[in-house]
Amino acid sequence: MSNNYQVQNLPDYFKQYKKSIKNPKKFWDKIADENFVWYQRWSKVLEYDMESANIKWFKNAKLNITKNCLDRHLSTRGDKTAIIFEPNNPEEEARYISYQELYDEVGKMANVLQSQGVKKGDRVVIYLPMIPELAITMLACARLGAIHSVVFAGFSSSAVSSRINDCDAKVVVTSDGSYRGAKTLDLKSIVDEALDKSPQVEKVLVVKRTNQAVKMKEGRDFWLDELLEKAPKDFVSVIMDAEDPLFILYTSGSTGKPKGMVHTTAGYMVYIGYTFKNVFNYQENDVYWCTADIGWITGHSYILYGPLLNGATTVIFEGVPTYPQPDRFWEVIEKHKVTQFYTAPTAIRSLAKESVEWVDKHDLSSLKVIGSVGEPINEEAWHWYNDQIGKKKCPIVDTWWQTETGGILISPLPFVTPTKPTYATLPLPGIQPVLMNEKRIEITENQQNGNLCIRFPWPGIARTIWGDHQRYIDTYFKAFPGKYFTGDGALRDEVGYYRITGRVDDVIIVSGHNLGTAPIEDSINEHPAVAESAIVGYPHDVKGNALYGYVMLKEVGEDRDKENLRKEINHLISEQIGPIAKLDKIQFVSSLPKTRSGKIMRRILRKIAEGDFSNFGDTSTLLNPEIVDEIKNQRIN
Ligand code: PRX
Repeated sequence: MSNNYQVQNLPDYFKQYKKSIKNPKKFWDKIADENFVWYQRWSKVLEYDMESANIKWFKNAKLNITKNCLDRHLSTRGDKTAIIFEPNNPEEEARYISYQELYDEVGKMANVLQSQGVKKGDRVVIYLPMIPELAITMLACARLGAIHSVVFAGFSSSAVSSRINDCDAKVVVTSDGSYRGAKTLDLKSIVDEALDKSPQVEKVLVVKRTNQAVKMKEGRDFWLDELLEKAPKDFVSVIMDAEDPLFILYTSGSTGKPKGMVHTTAGYMVYIGYTFKNVFNYQENDVYWCTADIGWITGHSYILYGPLLNGATTVIFEGVPTYPQPDRFWEVIEKHKVTQFYTAPTAIRSLAKESVEWVDKHDLSSLKVIGSVGEPINEEAWHWYNDQIGKKKCPIVDTWWQTETGGILISPLPFVTPTKPTYATLPLPGIQPVLMNEKRIEITENQQNGNLCIRFPWPGIARTIWGDHQRYIDTYFKAFPGKYFTGDGALRDEVGYYRITGRVDDVIIVSGHNLGTAPIEDSINEHPAVAESAIVGYPHDVKGNALYGYVMLKEVGEDRDKENLRKEINHLISEQIGPIAKLDKIQFVSSLPKTRSGKIMRRILRKIAEGDFSNFGDTSTLLNPEIVDEIKNQRIN
């Protein structure tokens, strides 16, 4: 990596930005050319059509992302630590995996996968805790050209099987169990249950982590360590086309079916390599730590690929912020002398509630840049983070992006862009944000709110939804023709800084997790006593948003045990989606407010959940206006 792509200062940013907008192809051509290794150069930098959502970057280029993440570092950084593994239990020793060791492990794993019948283009579902094997398996898939789909190891068996079935995976990699704080989870039995509904899976490779007893199905399930022992280290990376899929990652949508966002090889690599370097101001001997789970896009792009593309040292942390005590994050920063720390507002808010003595016990002087991602960071949390963690000397990078965007689109660049609390500030080079009003007209003035769209494709944008390109077009390219619609609202201030105000669709972000209302409602409605339901979000001081459910029962009987019903409903959600989607409040209602065309008026339900009874707007157009008072009077505090 020649490090040609570092933005130096604010005038340099404006210069780069201008260049990137004036001639995006030239801009990305140079970055791709100077900073990555290719088997074959591209014949065309970009080909695209926004209407049909057909986007191709670096057409006909040939490459393998793992050559860029591993092979090319070996001569200069072979002994350098690529991954620091910090286990859940601080008593267990940390592991330091060098670039050479990582290369060897990835080679062995690629050989194992191949010997189990995995070929280029096959899908491999990975359901693993935050352990090095997760990173190794992803890289091994990429090395042999298989498409990885990591499913967050907090999802339930139903969620696992629906994802396996959607992408038709034949191989699953999991572990016996996982450690999370004081708890141990039985990952293998969740997979076993999932596979009852996914009989097409031929092989399950199991990592030993907790050494708990698990059932192994003869001929289908194999212990990974036994297979790895016999596997050779070298595996020549498969030649991939620029637009061959690298991975599928599922995200919530407005119907019950999750969307398998497809990211392809070359554009993703170039965009993630470039943004990692710039947004975190990464320098050669830095130790970078992102606390996200690799099961989310943040982990894919900025725990794994971004750092390794830049030859960085990246921390993989298995545990939780409060185990064994609420200073675990600060202890780990001190222990590994972390220089860049990247976390979520929900974690910041919950740790800010603890005594500041937990922070003060630790030497955080190694920190240079601190980051935030996943949801809007409120002013109070921003200041706490700035004062207590960054000690007012570390710029906060409030990074706005999405699973669909592959990498960060709007963010300050540290030591370059002056920060402003709660603002993601300016677009990165190559990114053209626009605000659109309800009439689909572009808002050109500043100090206005609007629907946030992006005008021009960037290399990291997802190319499609697995198996459903029409849904991709309908979701992202229809609302504002010619533009990518993010689903977020934003405010642009007087100098052009962006502040993301939150979702404008039916996705609710709870503790940084993207949850669609539709899949949760579908789960609730499966309860035999439930006729209909509606979920809305309401502000919560730690989680950002919490979930409020309005549930209409088939038969309203005073004798029903409501507390028990609430438990059953949450149990159902937990089983079908995962505990992250459980409702905080459930109110039983005799009906839901609806328009004459039968649409649930969520706006009113949202206001009631928030406790704001000031202005419901015109309720006379409702089919059943009388219900509003009933719901209001029985609101759960
Ligand atoms: O609403 C925005 C919010 O998270 C959404 C994307 O969620 P997901 O695909 O799960 O990816 C999360 C990690 C990139 C966005 O549409 N969001 C993300 N980052 C921010 C944010 N909202 C405000 N400020 C942010 N920095």
